[in-house]
Amino acid sequence: MGAGEERRILVTGAMGQIGLELIDALIAKFGSDNIIATDIREPENDYDFNFEKLDVLNKQNFEQIIVQNKINQVYHLAAILSATGEKNPELCWKINMDGLLNVLELSRKYKFRIFAPSSIAVFGPDVGKIALQSSPQNPTTMYGVTKSAGEQIAEYYHSVHGVDIRGLRYPGLISWKVLPGGGTTDYAVEIFHKATASQNYTCFVSEETRLPMMYMDDAIKATMQIMDVPSEKLSIRGGYNLPSLNFSALELYEKIKQKLPNFNCQFVPDHRQEYADSWPDQTDGSIAESEWGFQLDYDLDSLCSIMIASLQK
Ligand SMILES: NC(=O)c1ccc[n+]([C@@H]2O[C@H](COP(=O)([O-])OP(=O)(O)OC[C@H]3O[C@@H](n4cnc5c(N)ncnc54)[C@H](O)[C@@H]3O)[C@@H](O)[C@H]2O)c1
Repeated sequence: MGAGEERRILVTGAMGQIGLELIDALIAKFGSDNIIATDIREPENDYDFNFEKLDVLNKQNFEQIIVQNKINQVYHLAAILSATGEKNPELCWKINMDGLLNVLELSRKYKFRIFAPSSIAVFGPDVGKIALQSSPQNPTTMYGVTKSAGEQIAEYYHSVHGVDIRGLRYPGLISWKVLPGGGTTDYAVEIFHKATASQNYTCFVSEETRLPMMYMDDAIKATMQIMDVPSEKLSIRGGYNLPSLNFSALELYEKIKQKLPNFNCQFVPDHRQEYADSWPDQTDGSIAESEWGFQLDYDLDSLCSIMIASLQK
């Protein structure tokens, strides 16, 4: 799309944890007439945005919506996440890969810009504590396999077919508006819901588990920011590492307890511990910082304050 051209934006998987927040931010910036939210499922509550039901595997319908609405940017969020993906690896591959391929092929034809998120799940147990941009990608979950392959296919469509695709390796995202959709980092959201409802929480990873995390507003900021960077400034198309917060599950509990002293949490790891153990503790986001100036606004303390205050309202 050319500079100054009006944005016509479509979001896939828009009813998910990230989508519902991204839509609000896009509407605030570009106006509700220019945003089309789509998902395979209908919105749960009353809504005041444009919505179309779309299964990203239905390429014909996808194409129709793109053409009818003169779309020039797609935020492609439709996916199956890690815990759900391990239960149904075939579905995870189908939606994450075929869905992405459909967007890429449609962009080849209609020349729209794509945002397609990757994940820290591209890394595997050999990554070490801090994942660098170039750390090896040996994922041990089907979800990670699809994200790693997704990065490669994004690089291929960019370099060979000129598709303007951009991606971020999101860490675990902590937000209060929407419950997360079956990922391994969900404990860092669930714990706040229990704490603010004056209930105890049983955390499904161990006390010492550390995973890269970020407050949702920082993720939305990065998502909007990367879509505005001039194409020639981007050296990576599959997924930029982002700087992330680094705290253990116990440290998160202790921070919440400082603010809500009656809250109690116990740690009883389940099968998701294995996925958590295969991922890094922290990510090095220095390339995103130097190439397009990304910075986190929230640390653990401000994240906890805003999560608790928002959920208590
Ligand atoms: N939330 C996180 O912590 C996190 C971390 C890393 C990466 N990501 C990535 O960000 C993206 C969005 O994640 P999220 O947390 O919002 O996920 P989510 O599970 O909350 O939402 C995904 C949405 O996709 C929809 N969907 C599923 N199959 C579909 C299909 N065939 N057609 C259309 N829609 C379909 C679902 O109905 C759901 O609303 C995904 O690509 C995910 O891998 C998320």
